Amino acid sequence: MDHLVVTGDVTFSAEPREFERAADLLRPFAEAKKLTVVPGNHDVWTEESVETARFLRAIGPDGRGMRRAAPSYPHVVPVGDDAVLVALDSARYGEEPFETPRRLGSEQLRAARELAREHAKEGRAVLLAFHHHVVLPPERMPSDVQVARMPLADADQVVRLVAEQPIAAVLHGHRHTAFRVDLPGARGPTPVLCSGSASRVADEPVRRARAYVYEVDRSGLRSVEALVAGTE
Ligand SMILES: [Fe+2]
Repeated sequence: MDHLVVTGDVTFSAEPREFERAADLLRPFAEAKKLTVVPGNHDVWTEESVETARFLRAIGPDGRGMRRAAPSYPHVVPVGDDAVLVALDSARYGEEPFETPRRLGSEQLRAARELAREHAKEGRAVLLAFHHHVVLPPERMPSDVQVARMPLADADQVVRLVAEQPIAAVLHGHRHTAFRVDLPGARGPTPVLCSGSASRVADEPVRRARAYVYEVDRSGLRSVEALVAGTE
């Protein structure tokens, strides 16, 4: 494996002990410098966790934590010679955690656009990663529409970015099921992938704990394989 991308919600309620546990689990990947993490809404669940920059201090973009928390996204990571990962922060604290929409914001979107343009020009596949979903696929709508709160408020800007710049794939989390939606992209259909929960216990195969394994080269995403818990 070249690189592990964790698309947020490494904790349930942003408590220090949860972050410690997550940091322990991720340490081998962090020490090997093969890890990128973006925060999820649960990682900024409480005002206190935000004020103390708990996510950045305990985990941060490379999983190694930060002694002095500083703005860290977009976080750009080369993945081999052929690809670059642009990690973005969509997590925003809100007093109503179940109702607060999350956003990337115009500054990050502008930076992501510029990075995508530069790297694509040099022949690299560009992967975007952030926490919140952009769109729900029709087959998930009936079950997810009741719980599809906290969407990405500027999802329309991501759709536009994908349409205008060559993006190989968009990787996100937030929803606890695995799904893929292809958006019209600058160089053809662009996959937007939610790998689902990495820790969920469920009978329904699509909801079971899993990870996706991606194969990427200069031309883009070559393959996606699901590693699903309990199906070895
Ligand atoms: Fe989430």
